[in-house]
Amino acid sequence: MKISISLLQLAVVGVWSQGPAAQIPISPNTILTPTEPLNLDSIPLLGFGTWNLDRSNATEAVSAAIQAGYRHIDCAAAYKNQDLVGKGIADGLAKTGLKREDLWITSKLWNDHHGPKNVEPAIDTALADLNLTHLDLYHMHWPVATSSFTGANKIEYLATWAAMSELVHKGKTRHIGVSNFSPHQLQTVLNATTHPPAVHQMELHPYLPQRDWLAWHAEHGIHVTAYSPFAGTNPTYAPGEPPQLLHNKVLESIGARRDCTPAQVALAWGLRRGTSVLPKSSHAARIAENFGAVRCELTDEDVGRVDDLAEYHHRFNNPGKAWGVDLYEGLEDSRGKHRDHE
Ligand SMILES: NC(=O)c1ccc[n+]([C@@H]2O[C@H](COP(=O)([O-])OP(=O)(O)OC[C@H]3O[C@@H](n4cnc5c(N)ncnc54)[C@H](OP(=O)(O)O)[C@@H]3O)[C@@H](O)[C@H]2O)c1
Ligand SMILES: *[C@@H]1O[C@H](CO)[C@@H](O)[C@H](O)[C@H]1NC(C)=O
Ligand SMILES: *[C@@H]1O[C@H](CO)[C@@H](O)[C@H](O)[C@H]1NC(C)=O
Ligand SMILES: *[C@@H]1O[C@H](CO)[C@@H](O)[C@H](O)[C@H]1NC(C)=O
Repeated sequence: MKISISLLQLAVVGVWSQGPAAQIPISPNTILTPTEPLNLDSIPLLGFGTWNLDRSNATEAVSAAIQAGYRHIDCAAAYKNQDLVGKGIADGLAKTGLKREDLWITSKLWNDHHGPKNVEPAIDTALADLNLTHLDLYHMHWPVATSSFTGANKIEYLATWAAMSELVHKGKTRHIGVSNFSPHQLQTVLNATTHPPAVHQMELHPYLPQRDWLAWHAEHGIHVTAYSPFAGTNPTYAPGEPPQLLHNKVLESIGARRDCTPAQVALAWGLRRGTSVLPKSSHAARIAENFGAVRCELTDEDVGRVDDLAEYHHRFNNPGKAWGVDLYEGLEDSRGKHRDHE
């Protein structure tokens, strides 16, 4: 155990010394070992995803993640498992001897709780389910409000954002962020608020790198978190083209050369771009394998080869059609189609 921790510390220094510097207001000061406390504003770049965790052992999976070294857990009301995740957090803390402040816990406001009166009750429910007194980050999950009376959806985010800002003043979350916003929507928020989003969580992987959009966030001091880092591997996404990312020949050949698995190469590529990455797995061995991405060092040439997979431009997560709203306007594949098929 001691050996693996010290190896990890070395690896972390090695990886982060090459990483991009500017991530204001949240620094890339990633601390992944049980011995060091998190700085109040450091988001650990390697996080654990909790959507679709097997319900029979979601608690064990979250606890296993904390024991494997993850210090960042990504939750949401929409995943309907925050009670199970909360038990896993408590168990992981008990088994590692870590404290709440050693972890970064994110949750998200679901579309059915937009609007000034609904936001605080929503975070209160999240906190009760997770068994926490405060979050580190609370995202607006989508710029979409669903009416609890009619079930109808509409684009709405400004009034909800104002209510989320109040949560910071009340000490219920340390940071607030958005998710799945278009450039116009995010600029509209920035124009209207004195409390800009600290983090934007969006779909990012080698098949959807969104390079210009990522650069825009760096210029505006907004940290970016990459969801679905394994592209179409999530079984709720439609199968087919492009080929399964974890069986992609480029990732396999880089992995073989660097002594990493394809999953580690995909995550290491995301870390090298300065994004936080959120792999999800229900399996202890994969949870540990994915955390090993911090030891996977890519060369600039490797990164360039993964960058070339951008030609697929494939977005997997676009519920806009089902919800009857237009999402991702102005972004790569705003209609969620494979570029070749347009
Ligand atoms: N803000 C948003 O709107 C949004 C949207 C999507 C996702 N997210 C967040 O991002 C997280 C990750 O995204 P995701 O859940 O869509 O998918 P993902 O993490 O990209 O992929 C998960 C899939 O990969 C498999 N897997 C994991 N590690 C593996 C490995 N080493 N080798 C082979 N297969 C492996 C998992 O299988 P097993 O579990 O069976 O091992 C699962 O089927 C979510 O859990 C959630 O926290 C946010
Ligand atoms: C959860 O259950 C699945 C299915 O039985 C199993 O394959 C997996 O290893 C379990 N994961 C954990 C973390 O216990
Ligand atoms: C809630 O958290 C506290 C403090 O970590 C812990 O002692 C308690 O067991 C947790 N409750 C549940 C139901 O997990
Ligand atoms: C934001 O404000 C700038 C400066 O006033 C203005 O030029 C721009 O059109 C605004 N953008 C949006 C989306 O409101």
